This record gives sequence, structure tokens and C-alpha cells, in this order.
Amino acid sequence: MKLAILSRAPNAYSTQRLKTAALERGHEAKVLDTLRFAIDLSGDDPDLQYRGRTLSDYDAVLPRIGASITYYGSAVVRQFQQMDVYTPNTANGITSSRDKLRAIQILSRHDVGMPATAFVRDRKDVLPAIERVGGAPVVIKLLEGTQGIGVILAPDTKVAEAIIETLQSTRQNVLIQQFVAESRGTDVRALVVGDRVVAAMRRTAQGDEFRSNVHRGGSVEAVDLDDEFTSTAVASAQIMGLRVAGVDMLEGEDGPMVMEVNSSPGLEGIERATRLDVAGSIIDFIDNQVAFPELDVRQRLNVSTSYGVAELLVREDADLVGHTIESSRLRERDITILTLHRDHTVIPNPRNNRVLEAGDRLLCFGKLEEMRNMIPDRSQRRRKLKRLSIKAMDQAASEG
Ligand SMILES: Nc1ncnc2c1ncn2[C@@H]1O[C@H](COP(=O)(O)OP(=O)(O)O)[C@@H](O)[C@H]1O
Ligand SMILES: [Mg+2]
Repeated sequence: MKLAILSRAPNAYSTQRLKTAALERGHEAKVLDTLRFAIDLSGDDPDLQYRGRTLSDYDAVLPRIGASITYYGSAVVRQFQQMDVYTPNTANGITSSRDKLRAIQILSRHDVGMPATAFVRDRKDVLPAIERVGGAPVVIKLLEGTQGIGVILAPDTKVAEAIIETLQSTRQNVLIQQFVAESRGTDVRALVVGDRVVAAMRRTAQGDEFRSNVHRGGSVEAVDLDDEFTSTAVASAQIMGLRVAGVDMLEGEDGPMVMEVNSSPGLEGIERATRLDVAGSIIDFIDNQVAFPELDVRQRLNVSTSYGVAELLVREDADLVGHTIESSRLRERDITILTLHRDHTVIPNPRNNRVLEAGDRLLCFGKLEEMRNMIPDRSQRRRKLKRLSIKAMDQAASEG
């Protein structure tokens, strides 16, 4: 395959290792500077210029986008996606994971353990938020910090309030998070490639520091992850839309607690700690997936205004309960089940002879009108556009 590695640091350890691993396997690989791309939307088809010339054809792209260029970098990756070039990490995955709040919001929809977290703006909401996450000591985080910078441990409520107020006064958004004391300055970094953890390490903070980042002097050692940590890491990466990711987890009393998912994980620490060829496994994975460029499913399935994607709930009193998918006659009503969620498992492409149970959630593609009766109440209300009176408008104008 012909692979483009997007990076601003051609000589960095990770970039070098990835390029070498690709060349060793007989691939063609180039390191391209993310900021030297020009996104070209002037022609009929999406295109890219690199250093002033039309980019040649690539089979795959491996983005290594630093935090300082997230916006431009993800736009370049999105352009590759529009051109049907395979990327293990999507533009959406990169931007969502970079913002600690957005990442937690997305993960919270799923069965993934995380430290209790709150996000507030008004001063009056700060104290209750600290209480909700378990009270002081609490961790305060800047939304887009990396390498441990912007992660602060506030020993008591007064200090926490003062820090939050100071940061907010400089227009910084901060998270308030439960301090997971039992992890004692250690955390686990799992390197996920596809649906596997290919390497994992435990990081331990230096001295009485609580942040275990290598950039904060943390030390690393290889670690064997149990099934729970492994499946949590893989699920987190998957949910974020990242096939190559470094998932950071605290070792909480009740199991793994995910703190963040990194879309451009550094390879030096983990390869040195584990002596495993992580770069090689990334290249092999990409080589395997090249035929499956990422599609924006929703975008592609919105083919007609009367069709769309919806999640249907099989209610206890529904006729569907006890029926097989075949005898449910959904297909006859032009509804296709893409996935079936039952408890904590997901069954992709469920078979016709599978029996539906109360509580099943069906992700479906089909006629919106047919699906409307099956979605929980809130969406059933028909919203009629009402006439607006002149009086109401005058009143709003005089109040504003
Ligand atoms: N809620 C928490 N409880 C205990 N330790 C934490 C918590 N959040 C972060 N840490 C420590 O701080 C480090 C940095 O936090 P993280 O959210 O990963 O930010 P960064 O993006 O800067 O690495 C973590 O690796 C961990 O050691
Ligand atoms: Mg981190």
C-alpha cells in the first residue's frame, strides 16, 4: 500500500518507527507535514494540494495530529475521508477525543467506567458540582490540556473554588472531577489497535506528584491487563471512532475508570516499556483495512427525506415481544434492523430467527413514518407550526 503519515515532526521517535515499520514491510510510506496541505473544494470532486501540487493517490493515511493544530489537522483528515482514503482515526474521532468534556459525554452514553465529572459555568453552580462529584479533594482540568499540564488537584473546596474562578476569569473552560485516590499516582495506558490491546503499561508518578504523565517525570513498566481493562480500552477507542488510540485508565476500586482517549499516542514510552513492535502492528492493521474507507453512515443513508436511522425500543407491551425478527414483519414495513442492543451486548446484523425481547433496542434504517409509532413517547408529539401574533413580537421587542 501507499501510506501517508501526517506529522509535523518527521524526526520524532513515533514518526520514525511508523515509517520504518511500513518500509520494512514493503509498503511505500511518506511523512507529510499536516500544515502544508491545502484543502481544495473548487472542482467537482474533493481534492488536496500538498506543497502547491495536486496530491498523488494514497491508499491510506495515518494522522498524527498534535493538540495545537487540531482544527486544521482534522480538516485535512476529513478531506482524505471525503476522497475515500482509509484512515484508522476519523476527523470526528480526533476532535471528539481531544476535548476531555466531549469525550466523556460520548463515553457516558455507554457502559464505560469513568470518574464522576461535572462541567459548570455559573459561580453559583461550582459548589454543588464539587459536592456531586464526591467533595474535595477534587481534580480540576482544562478541557484541552495534554502531558499533565492543566490538571490540578485541589485539596479543599475553598481552593477548588478559587482555582475554578481564576481559570474561568481568563476564559478557560474547566472540568471538575472526582479524585480517584485509590489509584495512588498510577494509571494504565493501553495501546489499542483495531479491536485489540497490543501493548499496555502502568505509569507511576514521581514522588508526591499525582499525575503519572511521562512528561511529569512518571516512570513506566509493562503490565498485563485483565479482561475488564482490555475490553474497556477497546470499547472506549471504538466508541470514539479511533482504531489507533492510547486509552488512559485509573485503577479504581470498582475496576477501570477511563480518563481520556488519545488519538496520537506516543510510541516511545510504550515500546521501551514492553519491547513490543507497536508501530509494526499499527501498519499491519492499516494494511488489512485499506479496502474499507470510513463512511459517514448517517450522511450516506439520508438518501431520501422519508428514510432515516432511528433507535426503536421494544416495549414490554409491544406486539413484537416473543416474535422472531422474521415474524415481526418489520421488513414488510420497510424497516431493516442494523444492530440489536440487549443489556450490555450488541448484536450486529441480527438473524431472522432471533427472538425479540422486551427492552431490546433496535438500531434501524427505514421509513420514518413507519418507525414513528415505535419510538418512545417524547418524539411522537406532532409539532404544528403555530401562527405568531404581532402582539407577542411587539412584547418581546419592548422587553429586549
Ligand atoms: N480524576 C483523577 N483522579 C486521580 N488522578 C487523576 C485524575 N485525573 C487525572 N489524574 C492523573 O493526572 C494525569 C493527567 O490527566 P489526564 O486527564 O490524562 O490529562 P493529560 O491530557 O494532561 O494527560 C493522569 O495520567 C493521572 O495520573
Ligand atoms: Mg493523559
